Amino acid sequence: MHRWENKTIHIKKRFKLTDDTYILVLREHIDFIPGQFIMIENPMATRKPFILGYFGEDTALAIQVKGKGTRWIVNQSVLKAHYPLGKPFIPPQGKGITIVSPASLTFGCSMFRVYGTDVLLGSRKEILTDIPFTYVIGDSAFADKIREIKGHYDYYVVNGSRGMEKFVYDTVGEGVFVSLEEYMACGIGACKGCAIQTKDGIKHVCTDGPIFRGDEIWF
Ligand code: FES
Repeated sequence: MHRWENKTIHIKKRFKLTDDTYILVLREHIDFIPGQFIMIENPMATRKPFILGYFGEDTALAIQVKGKGTRWIVNQSVLKAHYPLGKPFIPPQGKGITIVSPASLTFGCSMFRVYGTDVLLGSRKEILTDIPFTYVIGDSAFADKIREIKGHYDYYVVNGSRGMEKFVYDTVGEGVFVSLEEYMACGIGACKGCAIQTKDGIKHVCTDGPIFRGDEIWF
């Protein structure tokens, strides 16, 4: 039995973080633990997954417009969604940093708020709003920053493009966790479309993840 709800959510405020990524601030407060996600219904696909997060005190989602479905979602003021889904992420002991792309900034905010991690935003695009975290623009500045912080933390949680996640894993190695929520379809353990091969055998992103240790994925 999955503990998830199918509810209506209302968008209290929407603003642009980059030219293609929006922050949607929800009127509702959603109870979740970092790592859990929400599936939002839309007319172009059954549902789309987004990792749950905060912006300031509010529950919020960061959504990159990649096609018709995400464009439709960012333009609504009322949405239907299932939540919370996925396995909560419980970090190891010690000091951590959460490394995010614009489309996961709100996840970074939740890691800061709940686990006190530092947050680093890596973006290829100009950041259009004030954010309370360090950010770097461009691949080379990002690579320099990751080399600089290597060894400074006990764990590194990365939620961005697969290239970004692999770069951090290859540079830092042990202690890196990555989020694979983009692999999901139904989000509730029914379709088996999110199966991935891990070091410990086949796992399902929507029920075993979405956050995995880097050495489980790349072995
Ligand atoms: S997304 Fe359908 S089983 Fe995981």
